[in-house]
Amino acid sequence: MTTYGISTDVSLAVDILMSGGIIGMPTETVYGLAACALDEGAVHRVFDTKGRPRNHPLIVHLSSSADFRTWGVFNSDAEALATSFWPGPLTLLVPRTSLVPDWVTGGRDTVALRVPSHPLAQELLRRADTGLVAPSANKFGRVSPTTAHHVLEDLDTEVDLILDGGECEVGLESTIVECIDVLQILRPGQISTEDIIRVTGKIPKETTGPSRAPGMLTSHYAPQAQVMIVDSLEEAKTIEAQHSTLRKVHLLHFSNVASYAEHLYDELRIADHNKCEIVIAVRAPSTGIGIAINDRLAKAAADR
Ligand code: TXA
Ligand code: MG
Repeated sequence: MTTYGISTDVSLAVDILMSGGIIGMPTETVYGLAACALDEGAVHRVFDTKGRPRNHPLIVHLSSSADFRTWGVFNSDAEALATSFWPGPLTLLVPRTSLVPDWVTGGRDTVALRVPSHPLAQELLRRADTGLVAPSANKFGRVSPTTAHHVLEDLDTEVDLILDGGECEVGLESTIVECIDVLQILRPGQISTEDIIRVTGKIPKETTGPSRAPGMLTSHYAPQAQVMIVDSLEEAKTIEAQHSTLRKVHLLHFSNVASYAEHLYDELRIADHNKCEIVIAVRAPSTGIGIAINDRLAKAAADR
């Protein structure tokens, strides 16, 4: 099969998707590995390319002009959140409609839906005029890609095309909110707990016990290097000094949380390129997107 590498040609991307191909797709959060949701063969290729178990459900991405109610059943919380944050970095987990096939949800009766705001993603979705599944475009368990080049590094000729939309603005995966019987945040992201309380008037339930979203494994988003999390830059520098004669260390710290989120995954990749053995990361403040940064750091630092 012909592969086209990195390109900005949306028409070519649509043609590839319509003929059952898979592509790297830019979004404002991270790059996705996209296929037509209703094409079973193409969706199976996404699972196989990622090396992801087929029972791990996928997010369906929709154009802002699509009728999302044909895909999911929206209660008043879901309606309010969709109205406030779509298009944007929010995924809503809702009961699925009969349109949504088992191969997307791993047989579950719920579906994860998201309307991304990235202009090229929107153009692609509008022209494809259907839902596109798109897990992050990395190999299973590895760091998510935030540039077209990252996708090329991970998946190379295993994808038919990588649509280049520049660097992802947010840099971390979307917030996932379950809107079924209870309101619950399954994955923290840029849309914060405070945002959700403001819009729904409800405090989301704490996610405890085994994760409701398979794929949210403890060890995830992992670079090759060992990740160590510390509370302050001073502490990071002390530890760096202790290690630096013996082992190559990469220090991770940003004074601005938005930049920290935007560059986190790229920094983890740089550490691996430089063959660093240890990444010392300074914990972000526990508010807003800082919670999402700390969540990804904890997963990158978890035992494998
Ligand atoms: O920002 C994002 O959300 C990116 C971009 C590409 O849109 N996508 C992304 O997809 O992070 P993925 O597949 O890497 O993560 C989606 C998460 C997985 O942990 C999956 O288990 C969960 O959402 N999920 C999807 N559908 C679900 C469902 N029906 N029930 C429970 N969890 C679900
Ligand atoms: Mg992922």
